Amino acid sequence: MHDQLMERVRFARTEAQVSPMGVGTYYDFRWIAPAKILGIKAGRQRRVEAIKAAIASGINLIDSAELYQSEPLVAEAIKGMPREEIFLATKVMPLHFSYDSLIKSCERSLRNLGTDYIDLYQMHFPSSNKNRIKEGIRAMEHLVDQGKIRYIGISNFTLAQTEEAVSWLKKYPLSSTQMNFSLAHRNIEKDLLPYCRENGIAILAYFPLGHGKLAGTSAVNQDLMKAIENQHGKKTATQIVLNWFMSKYEFVFPIPRASNPDHVKENAGAMGWQMTPEEVEMLERSIEKIRGPFNPVDRS
Ligand SMILES: NC(=O)c1ccc[n+]([C@@H]2O[C@H](COP(=O)([O-])OP(=O)(O)OC[C@H]3O[C@@H](n4cnc5c(N)ncnc54)[C@H](OP(=O)(O)O)[C@@H]3O)[C@@H](O)[C@H]2O)c1
Repeated sequence: MHDQLMERVRFARTEAQVSPMGVGTYYDFRWIAPAKILGIKAGRQRRVEAIKAAIASGINLIDSAELYQSEPLVAEAIKGMPREEIFLATKVMPLHFSYDSLIKSCERSLRNLGTDYIDLYQMHFPSSNKNRIKEGIRAMEHLVDQGKIRYIGISNFTLAQTEEAVSWLKKYPLSSTQMNFSLAHRNIEKDLLPYCRENGIAILAYFPLGHGKLAGTSAVNQDLMKAIENQHGKKTATQIVLNWFMSKYEFVFPIPRASNPDHVKENAGAMGWQMTPEEVEMLERSIEKIRGPFNPVDRS
């Protein structure tokens, strides 16, 4: 049994216990469009196997969305598993934020996921119509009351939009947000991340590998690789880049994509160990050499 199989942490201020890393199931529009319009799902089985590989490697946090056309794949991958061992996150599009429409979307996602409750229901993007967001939030609170969703989340909301959403929640707290965040894209560290830390809001980091740019990156230099190997055993550059989140922020959950089972197994090796603050700093400096210095105060 690998160390990472044992690892569970509290999901922000909720009761839920999740793996410190999750997986995402957004593939791309070459998957979504044929799957939605024509029902063509090339590579379906491999993707189901990738999600299963994640679970077998100790990951229980699985992210999907009504947009992704991947909810049925998640359903297939988790079939036969004790439901309470899996933490299912999915999302609703702004097009469906009106009260009745959001309830219908949730019912559809429940059917697609083959479950009677969703752990984390997230607003995928903010709507330009604030009243729609308010209405959607009311519908989400009703879904919590009904036991159809456990926790409420948002995604791609700025700090100001997040504060507004928090103020519109009347009965339940905001449990999480989901943002583009990685060593290649650290904008949220200047405002949204400190706000989330102060308010007990988890962050799901999407594009944690910079949408693939950081996978196997040579920016993780030889000195760092050696130093990490001496302390923690041999790790790949991808594992080190993913471990950065877990070593630095206990409330941030990277969700690299699950589409290739071998990649998923490698990525799971980012769990179960922790870099020291010195190693984290070395890694950040090493990436900066390639990508330029990062200053969360000055950068927009
Ligand atoms: N909320 C939002 O608006 C939003 C937007 C985008 C994404 N997301 C979520 O975030 C998840 C992750 O985003 P993403 O998949 O685009 O970005 P990512 O995880 O940063 O990068 C994925 C890319 O990295 C490759 N990769 C992963 N592990 C690798 C490894 N060990 N070695 C080599 N290559 C590796 C993948 O290839 P393979 O596919 O071949 O493994 C893929 O090309 C999505 O699945 C979705 O759930 C959310």
